[in-house]
Amino acid sequence: MAQQIPLDFLGSLRRTHSCGALRAADAGRRVVLMGWVHRRRDLGGVIFIHLRDREGVTQIVFRAECDAALHAKAELLRSEYVLAVEGVVEKRSPDTVNPAIETGEIEVVAEKIWILNTSETPPFPMEEHIDVSEDMRLRYRYVDLRRPHMQRNIILRSRISLAVREELYRQGFLEIETPFLTKSTPEGARDFLVPSRIQHGYFYALPQSPQIFKQLLMVSGYDRYFQIVRCFRDEDLRADRQYEFTQIDLEMSFPQEEQIFETIEPLIERVCETAGFQVKGPFPRMTYEEAMQGYGTDKPDLRLPRFWPVQDLFPPEAGLTREGLPLVAIRIPKTGSLSRKERDELKLFGGERGLAVYDDVRRLDRDFPEPMQKVRARTGAADDDLLLLAGWRGEPKGPRPVDTVLQACGQLRLYAGQKYNDRHGLLDPRDFRFLWVLDFPMFEWDEEDQRWVAAHHPFTSPRDEDLDLMETDPARCRARSYDFVLNGVELGSGSIRIHRQDIQKRVFTALGLSEEEARTKFGFLLDALTYGAPPHGGIALGLDRLVMILAGENSIRDVIPFPKTAKGTDLMCDAPSPVSDRQLRELGLMLRRPAQT
Ligand code: AMO
Repeated sequence: MAQQIPLDFLGSLRRTHSCGALRAADAGRRVVLMGWVHRRRDLGGVIFIHLRDREGVTQIVFRAECDAALHAKAELLRSEYVLAVEGVVEKRSPDTVNPAIETGEIEVVAEKIWILNTSETPPFPMEEHIDVSEDMRLRYRYVDLRRPHMQRNIILRSRISLAVREELYRQGFLEIETPFLTKSTPEGARDFLVPSRIQHGYFYALPQSPQIFKQLLMVSGYDRYFQIVRCFRDEDLRADRQYEFTQIDLEMSFPQEEQIFETIEPLIERVCETAGFQVKGPFPRMTYEEAMQGYGTDKPDLRLPRFWPVQDLFPPEAGLTREGLPLVAIRIPKTGSLSRKERDELKLFGGERGLAVYDDVRRLDRDFPEPMQKVRARTGAADDDLLLLAGWRGEPKGPRPVDTVLQACGQLRLYAGQKYNDRHGLLDPRDFRFLWVLDFPMFEWDEEDQRWVAAHHPFTSPRDEDLDLMETDPARCRARSYDFVLNGVELGSGSIRIHRQDIQKRVFTALGLSEEEARTKFGFLLDALTYGAPPHGGIALGLDRLVMILAGENSIRDVIPFPKTAKGTDLMCDAPSPVSDRQLRELGLMLRRPAQT
């Protein structure tokens, strides 16, 4: 329990400076600071307080010899008490300057204090280097958010949002809101549903994105829309996924893909500058096909070199891979030779994904001297690089078996790079390699449902020249969609949309939607497309992921003030939680199995 301490009123007192503002040039000034007791040192006759607010920390001094009553009051102070202090700024002697804090050249000699509130002993210390379990942090999030590194992240997030707004306004975009209580928007996840009280048995869906609304805004002539907008998706949570997350969402009329990229590039330059980094567009562009051939993924991490298909260099009887499937040479720079254990780990990792991994380069050199020379030339492998070959040993898998092999090789490349190359600093988190990936396939095969699904979303336009492939060879039909990738993370994606009703109907049919289903779900969109819909397209970037990377964090939970745990709960306010019978009745709902309370 906090001590019983008589509290002071703030009254008409105003602060003159933040706790991060004062410098040597302010010496002699009378100031009023307000904040929290960050640290307290009691040296008997002298008490030092580090007073903290979001701008920084200032040392406050209480000397018993100057004012015994004031010193006695300062003795009552404990961590996280809330204070107002009036005093005079004094320059510190050179030997007491504290270079660790920005106000370290001065201290404030207190003349009056107001104890505005006490605090229980905090559940964990405010120092950032102290490791605290995430459960504790989330349960006491209001305390956790006081910790300097969280404050830096949340402040950075706010400044990035401002930079986004400024840049998009500069480029002529309008910020327009779209509804949260709406109808399902298909982005591939489950919806969060909200029951209607007035119409029992009817539900709103929270938007997975403002996709359809932003398209409708184009139909309405609001060219260049943007929104920094909350989206809701009921999907498994991971370090880079939350149920509710924020998109920088935009849409333009009459754009080419390049115009979308040219809109985003200065935005990213500006956002990075806000976070203290210089990056310069244009960023590289790569087709999906090139990304698969070189990296085995649609989100290549360019900090590691690409891999190379090399099956053409080996005689078919070498038997290193299954006929018709790739053999891939993976080069991880400066990793040198690995221990037997490490090599076994690589083989095991590859094996679990169906790969035959050949790590014994000496043996390969002996058995295939000429092909291996060409492998070295193709990959640019140096003597101290790690070189691996990976082939496929089982049956071909999936409707695009070559992609299946390349994907497994891509995972092996990343695994080896992250695990063994990290020690050489090639994967520097501050080496920002932005990339555009374009010309994605239009459809993906859903193993579970045994049908084609939209690789992006069903409003994405097929490439003009691939239109007829939708019906004849969906696997080969390419879309006008693109992803924006940073260091192996998908930061954003978008597409040029379908603006003609006939094509939209064909896509729905290709996705197995009957005319009736298409009408029920998207009738309003199909209708809107008949009222002068212009060609349009756009993109959405994940703000949380962008801030996470720029803040140097590994989880978006560290850049979201009040996130959910990996299990989807809010430990602080205990959500989700059961509701009363009365609420259920009002909503016309009955639970199949009542919640355990
Ligand atoms: P998409 O579904 O690819 O596209 O989402 C765009 C970006 O949003 C971020 N994102 C997430 N971030 C955190 N948690 C999540 N659960 C989550 N899901 C997505 C990612 C992703 O790249 N309407 C389309 C965009 C368009 O076509 O304009 C859309 O939502 O960074």
